[in-house]
Amino acid sequence: MSTVVTQSSTATATRTSSADVFHSRGEGGSEETPHDEYQNLLASLPEANVRALWTFMSDASPPVPNPRAIPFVWSYQESLRPRIMEAGRLVPAELAERRVLLLNNPGIVAAGMFGITDTLFSGIQLVNPGETAPAHRHTAFALRYIIEGNKGFTDVEGDKLYMCEGDVILTPNWKWHDHGNEGDRPMVWLDGLDLPIWQRVPVNFTEEYEHPRYPAEDTDTSEYLFRWTEVTKDLDSQPTSYATHNYTKYDGSELSAVVGADAYRIDENTWSPLRLETTCFVFHVYKGTGYTLVGKGIKQVKLEWKSKDVFCIPAYTQFKSFATSNSYLFSFCDRPLLQKLEAHRIFEVKDEE
Ligand SMILES: [Fe+2]
Repeated sequence: MSTVVTQSSTATATRTSSADVFHSRGEGGSEETPHDEYQNLLASLPEANVRALWTFMSDASPPVPNPRAIPFVWSYQESLRPRIMEAGRLVPAELAERRVLLLNNPGIVAAGMFGITDTLFSGIQLVNPGETAPAHRHTAFALRYIIEGNKGFTDVEGDKLYMCEGDVILTPNWKWHDHGNEGDRPMVWLDGLDLPIWQRVPVNFTEEYEHPRYPAEDTDTSEYLFRWTEVTKDLDSQPTSYATHNYTKYDGSELSAVVGADAYRIDENTWSPLRLETTCFVFHVYKGTGYTLVGKGIKQVKLEWKSKDVFCIPAYTQFKSFATSNSYLFSFCDRPLLQKLEAHRIFEVKDEE
């Protein structure tokens, strides 16, 4: 269940540091002052493999959510596509195994980690005509959003699924999967995974299948496949200039324990509603042009986007999008994870612009 709260409930607290309290006592009189004793205590901690929580309490538990990710946009045509095509030309499949350019958020990189947001991984993957990306299975969940190509396929646990632009294909936790391309052009898709979570929960691992491909049969109906044609049918059936579609499994639940997904139609000259939630998002522009205002006040940034670009919204950051032409967008997010952690909150925010 999600919780809707007002911004006032997130009021910041003022803390007095332990050091201030210490100095205010004004104790002394011995040869070694209390200050010296305090410094000696701190100096003695590393050798005992302990650390004083009171010295970094606000980092360990800040007064407001503090994502490391920053709002960022990757241009597909100018930046991502030339590089992944060059990787396709230079890096043989057997060397790359999975030929992926991961989208690294500058704020996450600065913190010494990887990911497009604090909890989500995204990459651009390419499979050349005639190639097979060998079968394996792993703990991490993945979804694929198809960007370009024809006659490429993903096998998932026996279902051979041909991939068309805009389709979503799931490779859930511990399901065998491989990829191939029977077409005449490279297949390119956007990967969405929960990999950053497994940096702190070290039980993600991969098992290689004994053959390059897992046995699979052609099908157009699978619990792992979401056709874009069906999604747009739903979006276009809604009579408003802003429409949404939530991807769910057959039982109505989110796509995975960590990752959820949505699609949007924003008609020309239309704003999406202003949103502020604890969730972080990765957006892919299927078609259209526009921009997204992220954050507020002097910290607000404008992310301009066009067809096939990718952009991200950090956790607990308000945003709204404006379409300068009829636009369709796909997004994935960490909403299911936050719901399970009882940390999914949607804030009521006033749009003052
Ligand atoms: Fe995989």
